[in-house]
Amino acid sequence: MSSERKPAAFGDLRGWLKALDSAGELRRIDAEVDWNIELGTIARLAQGAADGPALLFNNIRDYGANSRCRQVFTGGLASYRRLALLLGLPPDTHPRELVKLGRTVLSTGIPPKIVKTGPVKENIVKGDEVDLYEFPVPQWNRIDGGRYILTYGGVVTKDPDTGVMNVGVYRGMVASKNQIPILMWRAQHVGHHVTAWQQKGHKEMPIAVAIGWEPSLDFVGGSPVPKGVCEYDVVGAIRGAPVDLVKCETVDLHVPASAEIVIEGYLGIDPESYTMEGPFAEFTGYVAGDRSPKPTINVTCITHRTDPILRGTIEGSMPGSFSENGVCSSIMRAATAWNVLDRAGVPGVTDVWCPPVQAGVNTLVQIKQSYRGQAKQVANALWGSSAAHVRYKHVTVVDDDIDIHDYAAVDWAIAYRVNAGEDDIVIMPGTFGAGLDPSTRRRDRNVTQFGTGKWNRVLIDATINLDYDPDPDLGGARFPPTVWPAKDDLDAVKARWSELGLDKPKRG
Ligand SMILES: Cc1cc2nc3c(=O)[nH]c(=O)nc-3n(C[C@H](O)[C@H](O)[C@H](O)COP(=O)(O)O)c2cc1C
Repeated sequence: MSSERKPAAFGDLRGWLKALDSAGELRRIDAEVDWNIELGTIARLAQGAADGPALLFNNIRDYGANSRCRQVFTGGLASYRRLALLLGLPPDTHPRELVKLGRTVLSTGIPPKIVKTGPVKENIVKGDEVDLYEFPVPQWNRIDGGRYILTYGGVVTKDPDTGVMNVGVYRGMVASKNQIPILMWRAQHVGHHVTAWQQKGHKEMPIAVAIGWEPSLDFVGGSPVPKGVCEYDVVGAIRGAPVDLVKCETVDLHVPASAEIVIEGYLGIDPESYTMEGPFAEFTGYVAGDRSPKPTINVTCITHRTDPILRGTIEGSMPGSFSENGVCSSIMRAATAWNVLDRAGVPGVTDVWCPPVQAGVNTLVQIKQSYRGQAKQVANALWGSSAAHVRYKHVTVVDDDIDIHDYAAVDWAIAYRVNAGEDDIVIMPGTFGAGLDPSTRRRDRNVTQFGTGKWNRVLIDATINLDYDPDPDLGGARFPPTVWPAKDDLDAVKARWSELGLDKPKRG
């Protein structure tokens, strides 16, 4: 499958918009739209079940012709067709194949190239001139604690010991004209960096956010790239060419030279300097991340292209309405889980899937069992990985005759291959987990106190139990045959199908 891939470098966000236009995937909204609630509501209504269009808003209330920024782009990655386009594959590539490709792109890399300058330096705004309100930052949802400028930007930080940069997507709210508190969890890579800078006695950490570039930046920034691997390398592998990076003006970090907007600054990591952030309509489909003091970016400089486009997104998948994060996670969280299982030496994994409606909080793993206890090995390996921090709460393992992309198949397996009295349901209590999950107690969602949330994880082993004795009456099988007819019987009936006046059979 990956041999059909033709890596595509779009150049920048504008190149991606052109590609979306040609593929009929983009809607330009010329009518005036209010940044305050209306824009986010349109985005939510339009996103659909991975079948909505990408949206470019180019007429935003209060941000007319002479504004520093007058356009907002959203929804670019909320469909598998567009993910296929980004990955250089035919648009109707099945998500299963995207997962397989996701596995390889996460483990390959093309290092970035440092260049002297680029379009992102067309405008440089420093010090007192910085005013975040000059950008049409949406109040995405009525219930949000404020206007969120960081929803799909690549947040760049650096390990103070190794110098390796990390690029992650973390939410950030406008708190004043030059302050952005962010949601930082200790168990995320940005949190690892915060801890490392703190241990060296620093009260602030250099940070930069690249907003609006090729889609691979958002896609990879929101994916659990292994620690120590720089996301820019993975982006290079996806596009088949190195990313051109320029140095920031006021911090020692590098950002894509043709990004639309770059926000530079220092993240205050001393709790004394925190400012209020939250709540936000979150990836769970619920409002989450209580209003509380959070580490805050004190902006030192903004560089941007002339007439820049602000890239943003709404969070939160619900039945029939899948967010960009939900769609991307269904691919990359599955790909990562599969790689974790491989590295841990779990044999026989034949498919992994994270349905987009819950972004991989429920993970499905299909295996070809060869020994007793294999499903437990799957769960143990997943839960022990750092990738499990905000995903893989419930792991369902099925045999290789169950299609994990078919809800009915998984449901049937759970109905008849799970026996809770035979250890098919296993709870792993008190692990780290997403501090945004409404099923956890409010106290356990206090990320400032605990550094992360608290999850009681569940394995649902829906495989045929190899601890049962083989049944001599069943030819040594552990389970009786299903009701589906034998091949010979089916073939005989199919041969008479038209004679019987029936349409083509659907199965067999
Ligand atoms: C739209 C979007 C918003 C996100 N917001 C946050 C956030 O506020 N905090 C967070 O820790 N992770 C957030 N994530 C998830 C992280 O981006 C993801 O876990 C990623 O792996 C983090 O990068 P890292 O692995 O380098 O830490 C978000 C992801 C997306 C796609």
